[in-house]
Amino acid sequence: MMKVPFFDWAGLYAEKADEFTRIFHETASRGGFILQRDVEEFEENLARYVGAKYAVGVSDGTNAILLGLRASGIQPGDEIIIAGHSFIAAAQSIHFGGATPVPVELDEHDWLIAPDAIEAAITPRTRAIMPVHVNGRVCRMDAILDIAKRHGLEVFEDSAQAMGAKFDGQGAGTIGRWGTYSFYPSKTLGCFGDAGGFVTNDPDIYERVRAMRNHGANKEKSIPLDVDIWGTNCRMDNLHAAILNFKLGYYDQAIARRREIAQRYHDALKDVEDARLPPAPDADNRYFDIYQNYEFCHPERDALRKHLADGNIGTIIQWGGFGIHQLKGLGMQRDLPKTDRFFRESLLLPLNHILSDEQVDHVVASLHAFFGGR
Ligand SMILES: Cc1ncc(COP(=O)(O)O)c(C=O)c1O
Repeated sequence: MMKVPFFDWAGLYAEKADEFTRIFHETASRGGFILQRDVEEFEENLARYVGAKYAVGVSDGTNAILLGLRASGIQPGDEIIIAGHSFIAAAQSIHFGGATPVPVELDEHDWLIAPDAIEAAITPRTRAIMPVHVNGRVCRMDAILDIAKRHGLEVFEDSAQAMGAKFDGQGAGTIGRWGTYSFYPSKTLGCFGDAGGFVTNDPDIYERVRAMRNHGANKEKSIPLDVDIWGTNCRMDNLHAAILNFKLGYYDQAIARRREIAQRYHDALKDVEDARLPPAPDADNRYFDIYQNYEFCHPERDALRKHLADGNIGTIIQWGGFGIHQLKGLGMQRDLPKTDRFFRESLLLPLNHILSDEQVDHVVASLHAFFGGR
C-alpha cells in the first residue's frame, strides 16, 4: 500500500544525492569547513532572496533569535509579547536573553498572533513584540507595526517557518527590526543538520550579530584576540552553507510545489462540516504563504488521525499539542481559551516539495473517505 510518511528524512538527501555528494566532496576537498566563501556567498544570497540589507549565517534558528535579542540590548525585566501558538524556541531565547516571554491569543482566521491580544497585554515593562510566522504565513504586520509605533515597542520576527513568505511584497523577517530563519532539515529550505539565518536592515545590529556569532571577532576570519563585545560560537557550518547555496537555486520551485499541495488539501476540506482551515494560497493577494505546514482543525481530529495512520499516512500534532502557555514547568501559564481549543483540534498533514502526486492523491482520497459527504 502507498506510504506517506509525515516527513521522509532520507528522501531529503535522495532527492538530488549526486549533486549533494559532489558539493560535499568539492567543499571538503578544499578544506571549506569554517566561515569560508560558501558562508559569505550564502549571506549575500539570503539577503538578496528575502530583500534585506544584511544577512548572517548562524548555527540554528533558536540561537539566531538569542543573538538578535542580545544585540538589541534586551534587559532583565523586559517583557516580550509572543503568541501561545509558538514553538518553545522563541520563548527560550527570550528567557535566555534575560527577558520574560508573555504569551497571548491567536487570531482564528490565520492561527497567528492576534493584534488586539497584543495590545491588551502591553504593560510598562513591555519592550518588544515577537510575531512568529507559523506555518509559513506572515502575521498581520501592518497592525503589529502600528501597535509597536503607538507604544514605542520593537518588533522582532521569528520567521523560522517562513523564509520566502511575503506580506504586501515584503519578505518575512525583513519587516521588523530583524528576523530569523531555521534551516533544520524539515524546514522549507532544509539542510542536513542544524543551520539558521539572521537578517536586518540595521547596520549596528548586523555588525553586533556578525561578531557575536564568532566569539566577538569583528573581522570574519580573524582569530578573536582583541574583542570588545561578548560573543559565543553560533557559526553556520560552511558545508551547510554550500548545500544551502545550491538549494536556494530551486527554492522557488519547492515553494510552488508546496502551494500546489496546500491547494489540493484546501479543495478536499473546504466543504467539510466543522473543519476550520488556514487561508487558501490565493485567498488574499496581500499575502504570499509558503506552507511550511498545512495545519487545520476539526473536532474529530483524533479519529481522523487514526484513520490516516491506518492508511499509512503520517500526521503530526504541532509541538506535541502544547502552546507555550501550557508548559507548566516554565511559568508562562495564561488563560488562552482560543489557543487551547486550537491545540485540541489541530493536525498537520504531510506537506513538502518531495511528495509525489500519487502520495498527495492518497492523502486526498483518505480525507474524502473519512469525511464522506460531511
Ligand atoms: C517557529 C519556530 N521558531 C524557532 C525554531 C527554531 O529553529 P532551530 O530548530 O533551527 O533552532 C523553529 C524550528 O524548529 C520554529 O518552528
